[in-house]
Amino acid sequence: MEILYLTPEDVLATGITNQEFRTLVAGALAQHGRKKVENPPKPGIHPLPQTFLHAMPAYLEETREAGIKWVSGFFDNPKQNLPAIMGLIVLNDADTGAPTAIIDGGWITNMRTAAVTAVAAEQLAPANVRSIGIVGTGMQARYHMLMMQDMFPQLEVVKGFDIYQPGLESFAEDMKRELNINVQPVSSVSEAVQGSDIVMTCTGVLKEPIFFWDDVKPGALVLPVHGGGWEFDVMNKADVLITDSHQQVASFLDGKYNIPESSLELGEVVADLKPGRVSQEQRILNFNLGLAIHDIAIAHRVCELAREKGQGVNLPYDPGVYPVPGAKK
Ligand SMILES: NC(=O)c1ccc[n+]([C@@H]2O[C@H](COP(=O)([O-])OP(=O)(O)OC[C@H]3O[C@@H](n4cnc5c(N)ncnc54)[C@H](O)[C@@H]3O)[C@@H](O)[C@H]2O)c1
Repeated sequence: MEILYLTPEDVLATGITNQEFRTLVAGALAQHGRKKVENPPKPGIHPLPQTFLHAMPAYLEETREAGIKWVSGFFDNPKQNLPAIMGLIVLNDADTGAPTAIIDGGWITNMRTAAVTAVAAEQLAPANVRSIGIVGTGMQARYHMLMMQDMFPQLEVVKGFDIYQPGLESFAEDMKRELNINVQPVSSVSEAVQGSDIVMTCTGVLKEPIFFWDDVKPGALVLPVHGGGWEFDVMNKADVLITDSHQQVASFLDGKYNIPESSLELGEVVADLKPGRVSQEQRILNFNLGLAIHDIAIAHRVCELAREKGQGVNLPYDPGVYPVPGAKK
């Protein structure tokens, strides 16, 4: 038996496209909507305040894909020249449970998170998006812009805010140079949120609220990818609340708050089981805390591409080498 090992460079060299990310994420969400997945809430450990290491197992029944991601979020890492998000994905054979691949999960995590936002925006954004507000202009913000660069032909302005001014400035410069997107740096969270058709919040984990629903304009779609930061009662204020998994969001909220009964799951909308936006005036809040099904579906495709191209290293693996007590030598 062998385990395919793919480094970050191997994963990138597969050439998997933005469109493939969006298609795979939508497919996984649709299976989630049809209740054809196992994706338990992620348990975590927290070696430093406001950091995490999460275990994220998933099984997709329709495509018979199984595996787990072990992912870290340490948001001071960039000061040591390390990424804030790092991770490894292990895939398993769905018939035997045998491990089949170990894949770097950092880039996949960044890309698939942005792809989920893009799929949600395709489904839930108001018509003719002209303005986007983005708060927290770190790595995720960059991947979000990359993933959505071709989606809104009428886009006129992206307003960006970050507490770290040099990061905000380089975000604006890089987006202009690389993606031809005009980012207007603004000086407060409210300025970024007010008047925006789509609001994306990509800060690190926040303890105190900095986002307030009264700033959100009628018809806007709000897409947080981080934990905390929104005012306590926000889930009751939105006209429609959508999560990627009620079970996972409930677990994150730790019983301190109930998800309103009328809420939808994104997979139900993507699978066409329930309507998402039904009027241009609705203010929709869509919390996507991140599902392992995306990582596992994408990692499978990445392995397929790597095998076709002969990339990666095959590690020998023999599950039967340990001694069996009592068995003949
Ligand atoms: N939902 C998912 O599936 C998923 C996946 C990956 C990452 N994430 C989350 O995305 C978030 C961003 O990750 P990242 O890799 O971009 O991190 P990052 O450290 O690169 O960027 C975070 C940015 O937020 C800014 N920030 C922090 N506090 C702020 C505040 N109060 N106001 C404005 N800006 C503030 C920081 O200065 C930084 O620029 C994290 O919370 C991470 O856990 C979610």
